[in-house]
Amino acid sequence: MTAERVALITGASSGFGLLTCVTLAGRGWRVLATMRDPARREKLDAAASAAGVAERIEVHALDVTNAEQIAALVDVVAVRSLRVDAVINNAGFALAGFAEDTTDAELRRQFETNFFGATAVTRAFLPLLRRQRSGHIVMISSVSGRMGFPGLGSYAASKFALEAWTETLRMEVESLGIEVVLIEPGAFETDIWGRNAIVSEGTMDAKSPNAERIARWRKRFENPKVRPDAQEVANAIARVLDDPKPKLRYVFGPDAKMGLRMRRWLPWSIYERMVIKGSGIDG
Ligand SMILES: NC(=O)c1ccc[n+]([C@@H]2O[C@H](COP(=O)([O-])OP(=O)(O)OC[C@H]3O[C@@H](n4cnc5c(N)ncnc54)[C@H](OP(=O)(O)O)[C@@H]3O)[C@@H](O)[C@H]2O)c1
Repeated sequence: MTAERVALITGASSGFGLLTCVTLAGRGWRVLATMRDPARREKLDAAASAAGVAERIEVHALDVTNAEQIAALVDVVAVRSLRVDAVINNAGFALAGFAEDTTDAELRRQFETNFFGATAVTRAFLPLLRRQRSGHIVMISSVSGRMGFPGLGSYAASKFALEAWTETLRMEVESLGIEVVLIEPGAFETDIWGRNAIVSEGTMDAKSPNAERIARWRKRFENPKVRPDAQEVANAIARVLDDPKPKLRYVFGPDAKMGLRMRRWLPWSIYERMVIKGSGIDG
């Protein structure tokens, strides 16, 4: 009999994180579903019950910006002598707003979660993975980790940083039996576009020199085409975890694939003009 595989997921209360928990549990994994506010677990519980996998998922409190909570989770795993076969760094949010309007505090907050949170959780569990001589580390990055977009500079910067760190980590742990992967979705339907959408205060201020431009930008994003189902990404994460030798990068979504193709093949001046036009900021 093969040992039960264990996955640890951050940001499991909604979106990709929630769906990945249920998908992995359905494939026989034990899931340590972490969320910053366990009081928000009802949606996960309901989805797990509906899928008949509730007993395979346990919820733990984890704000990825909280070093004490990260250490406490490492202790929980150690005390129970659990193995961890997958660390999935999913927790994140997108700060919208023009570079000119964004404060240091806002930019730092974006990095605290999307970059420092993911890297801290990874470093905390690396000694265990090293001892096991196995395990997958999955970073939920974004197509924004490969291309900038007007109004999303802070988010893109945090994901570019995550990409550079992850690309390097992969090379550093290659000989230790640890696999490191970047998941790069385009736009998918999750709470990141609603409940968790954050716009820099300066950009929201009617006195911002960019007020009209961001209003056009928001209109463009508030009337989107139907976004693809996030389950596609959860299924793909499950497949990546089954692959003993996964690639570094996996791109999902038609917009992400098209954007990266344009960036790669078009002359920069044409590419840039198309992205600006697509953002709507200049009418
Ligand atoms: N959906 C997309 O179009 C898209 C595209 C590319 C990349 N992504 C990436 O996918 C990941 C998941 O986002 P999503 O789209 O699934 O959005 P989501 O539904 O808003 O889920 C984000 C999750 O992260 C959690 N979170 C935020 N800050 C946290 C913190 N400090 N500590 C722990 N958890 C925290 C949220 O918790 P609360 O419930 O407490 O708010 C929520 O569970 C993010 O890294 C995002 O950048 C999303």
